[in-house]
Amino acid sequence: MTAAAPAPRTPGRYSIALVCLGNICRSPMAHVVLEQRLEAAGLADVVRVVSSGTGDWHVGKPMDERAAATLTEAGYDATRHRAQQFAPSWLDEHDLVLAMDRANLADIGGPGERVMLFRAFDPVAPGSEVPDPYYGGPEGFEEVLEMVERTSDAVVVALQRLLGRP
Ligand code: 4NP
Repeated sequence: MTAAAPAPRTPGRYSIALVCLGNICRSPMAHVVLEQRLEAAGLADVVRVVSSGTGDWHVGKPMDERAAATLTEAGYDATRHRAQQFAPSWLDEHDLVLAMDRANLADIGGPGERVMLFRAFDPVAPGSEVPDPYYGGPEGFEEVLEMVERTSDAVVVALQRLLGRP
């Protein structure tokens, strides 16, 4: 069974933080796709999405070029991303914090009511990790995009239910 989204801290508004290791591959891809899906669902004005990495190596940099190429090829805008580092204060600031893999989840303090794996919402394989494509070939980025698209769709459905939007 897929996860349920926790209630908003402020009624009618929602904030989601996506977390990976470098914030140049997985969480930026999820960020761009989820924002596009929220826009399409008419939820862009009430749901805010941010992303970050647990590491600081790439802070201020754009997305990895392979991640950007995969998104661009699929019709998304990958140009606006700049990497940020996760800060523990994010745990109190967001309604839902979604980690790409178990190491990322452990690095931010482990699971909680508002802290879980992104793929907790994946209808195909709930609770799986988004594998790190950084050291692999282009097919890894394609695979990440596929997981991120169907999981983002499911997150949007969960938010529509929660926020009472059809
Ligand atoms: P991400 O991928 O966590 O999906 O952004 C990585 C990016 C950079 C590194 C590792 C993973 N790195 O070691 O620099």
